[in-house]
Amino acid sequence: MTPRDCVNPMSNQFHVVAAKSELSEGKQLPVELDGEEILLCQHQNQYYAIANYCSHDRLSLEGGTFENGCIVCPYHGAEFNLEDGAVMAPPAYEGIKTYPIRVDADTLSVCATPHAAKPDE
Ligand code: FES
Repeated sequence: MTPRDCVNPMSNQFHVVAAKSELSEGKQLPVELDGEEILLCQHQNQYYAIANYCSHDRLSLEGGTFENGCIVCPYHGAEFNLEDGAVMAPPAYEGIKTYPIRVDADTLSVCATPHAAKPDE
């Protein structure tokens, strides 16, 4: 799947990146916003927008499995919390960025400015 460009990216605002119908439960959708590759995820009826790279070897997280609110990297098994990007299992030891996502009736919108990192990261 090829990441798609977002029309009219601007910082600190939400931008429509996909139709809601493009992302069903348990699925992922790579998009690009403001030069960043972002992976949209739907897990347990919640929507998430996370950086589409693993902090271990900078490989794509697309194709990783969802387990208990985390995405498991398809390469070496590192786990990241979908909500805040915190690393939950090695071999990665740094978290990943997560982005605010807005779910409207027909669209998914993402803010180009990621959530602030936790103080202990
Ligand atoms: S690239 Fe993700 S765990 Fe190694």
